Amino acid sequence: MNERRQDETAGPSATGDRPGLLLRVLAGEAVWPPPVWLMRQAGRYLPEYRAVRAQSPDFVGLCTTPELATEVTLQPIRRYGFDAAILFSDILMLPWALGHGLAFREGEGPVLPRLRDQAGIEALDRNRLAGAIAPILETVERVRAALDPATALIGFAGSPFTVACYMVEGGGSKDHAATRAMAYGQPALFAALIAVLTEASIDYLAAQIAAGADCVMLFDSWAGVLSPAQFRAHVIAPTRQIVAALSTRFPGVKVIGFPRLSGTLLGEYAAMTGVAAVGMDSASDPVVLAGLVSPKVALQGNLDPQALVAGGSAMESEAHAILGALRGRPHVFNLGHGIVPETPPAHVEALVKLVRAA
Ligand code: CP3
Repeated sequence: MNERRQDETAGPSATGDRPGLLLRVLAGEAVWPPPVWLMRQAGRYLPEYRAVRAQSPDFVGLCTTPELATEVTLQPIRRYGFDAAILFSDILMLPWALGHGLAFREGEGPVLPRLRDQAGIEALDRNRLAGAIAPILETVERVRAALDPATALIGFAGSPFTVACYMVEGGGSKDHAATRAMAYGQPALFAALIAVLTEASIDYLAAQIAAGADCVMLFDSWAGVLSPAQFRAHVIAPTRQIVAALSTRFPGVKVIGFPRLSGTLLGEYAAMTGVAAVGMDSASDPVVLAGLVSPKVALQGNLDPQALVAGGSAMESEAHAILGALRGRPHVFNLGHGIVPETPPAHVEALVKLVRAA
């Protein structure tokens, strides 16, 4: 019998504490068709998100108002029935919770104070964390209580390196030159920043798991700008430390790692960090990565978000190629990066149908 059909006919009450499809794949099972969720599945491409956002012009305020953050987390689940919900928040809420400033400006993206010295690191206050993240944890509790048991709730944080990029640059950047210059030129200073963010990420992710997240994901959007040695020091080592600390506190907990644009280093990342799954960006060939990554580690991805904007036969052939390449191994269908605001909601619906009919 088809595994998915079994899950669908079981219904929420009969499902009990049987793990849903995402957690089964993260435990190493090749489920066919694979579970599907999309990075940035809650967001501006949805009219119902824009309606909530209009009431809350301050994005940080939206992330820290449990009632609204719960609503926007659930919106894409109601519309598409994804196999997982992802907490609605942002990777930059961690520096915010440590007392570093954060503002989101229209058309400009995030703006933060530039961290360039030891005083900047010392100003980060771990004692503020628990109080500041309390509303985010309340969102986790509310979402978990509202979801069907078979739908996983993913908690998340940015990886220390990617969060450090935003703090050092003071916002987005094309090449992260100041961050890379600091990592090479002031190695002790940069290592100290990564160490503080690693410890804080452990606290933050552990709190999300304790509040009800079923697994967690580390977004490392800028991992691909590092040299191999720097990647080992600032991406692999902190990720390994985070996974080890979470596994000690929550035995069996699954972490999805997404070191975007890491190319062939993804194999080493998968082998060395202890993550249960690795995200693939759209530039990676799933067939090649399947050869580099142990079959015990699930692969997640990797449709180009622009193929989802285009829809139609271009999207269909790309999606079928990914599905075919990974059939028979643990795979979570997703994009290779977040959904963009121009995406027609009907294309998302068509994609979910395609994956479920595979
Ligand atoms: O995936 C989800 O649906 C969960 C929520 C989520 C958001 N951001 C909401 C958000 C997640 C997991 C993130 C991760 C995130 N945030 C990353 C890593 C993934 C990636 O895209 O590379 C990064 C680098 C950020 C930092 C960030 N947040 C930027 C650069 C921006 C501005 C650019 C943009 O898309 O607007 C944000 C804002 C942001 N985070 C929005 C959302 C829905 C848009 C805010 C709005 O409504 O105006």
